[in-house]
Parts: sequence; structure tokens; C-alpha cells
Amino acid sequence: MRYGLLLLVATFALAANANSPAPIKGDRELGEYLSSMCVACHQLSGKVTAGIPAIIAWPEDQFVAVMHAYKDGTRDNETMRTISHRLSQEEIEALAAFFGSQPAPK
Ligand code: HEC
Repeated sequence: MRYGLLLLVATFALAANANSPAPIKGDRELGEYLSSMCVACHQLSGKVTAGIPAIIAWPEDQFVAVMHAYKDGTRDNETMRTISHRLSQEEIEALAAFFGSQPAPK
């Protein structure tokens, strides 16, 4: 009985590993540090100002994908292209973790 349960758990763990890519696990503290270069434009409160969109409370993988879209030119925006080019993958994931953890405005 016990072994059956263990086997079941082990099978699930293996299946989860095989099917999904490793979850993004950015360093939130690094993200908070780096966010100082973003919040001059993007409001941490989630308020949209002067046409600058809110970037908080996003799923991390979506945030990372959008930053890459600016990096590779799929999204064409001069400001964000320059900014994204300065960031490493680790830094982008860290920013995704930090901004993603900010609660969405009501
Ligand atoms: C000088 C102002 C400015 C700064 C600084 C800035 N951004 Fe942006 N950001 C913008 C503008 C303007 C847009 C909208 C661009 C567009 O139309 O694609 C944008 C768009 C974005 C988007 C997509 C938003 C959406 O709704 O699609 C993300 C994500 C983003 N910025 C992240 C960041 C991060 C992370 C930083 C800091 C590393 C940062 N930005 C710094 C001005 C800025």
C-alpha cells in the first residue's frame, strides 16, 4: 500500500519533469534592485501614465517573453529595445519575478 503511493508520487514527479520546461525562478531581490531603472516610467502601483503600460502582476513567463520580443525586434519600440538589450536572461527573469509579485491594482 505504502509502496504503491510512493510509486504514484514518483511517477507524477517524473511526468511533470518530462512534460514542462523548468519553471522560471527569477531572483526577486535582484529584480527589486534592478527595477529602479524601470519605475521611472512604469508605475509600481500599476497605474498607466503618459501611455506607459503597467507591467506588474504578470505571469513570469509572459513577462520574459515580452522582454525577449523587444530584444529580438519582434516588438518595435526604441526605448524598450535599448533597455532590454542591456539585460541578461538572469536579470530579465529576476525582473519578471519582482514585477510579477506586485499585487494588481483593484
Ligand atoms: C523611458 C521610459 C521607460 C523605461 C525606463 C522602461 N520602460 Fe518599459 N516601456 C516603456 C514604453 C513607452 C512601453 C510601451 C512600448 C510599446 O508600445 O511597445 C514599454 C513597454 C514595456 C513592456 C510591455 C508592456 C505591455 O503592456 O505590453 C514591458 C514588459 C516593459 N516595458 C518592461 C520594462 C522593464 C522591465 C524596464 C526596466 C528594466 C522598463 N520597461 C523600463 C517605457 C519605459
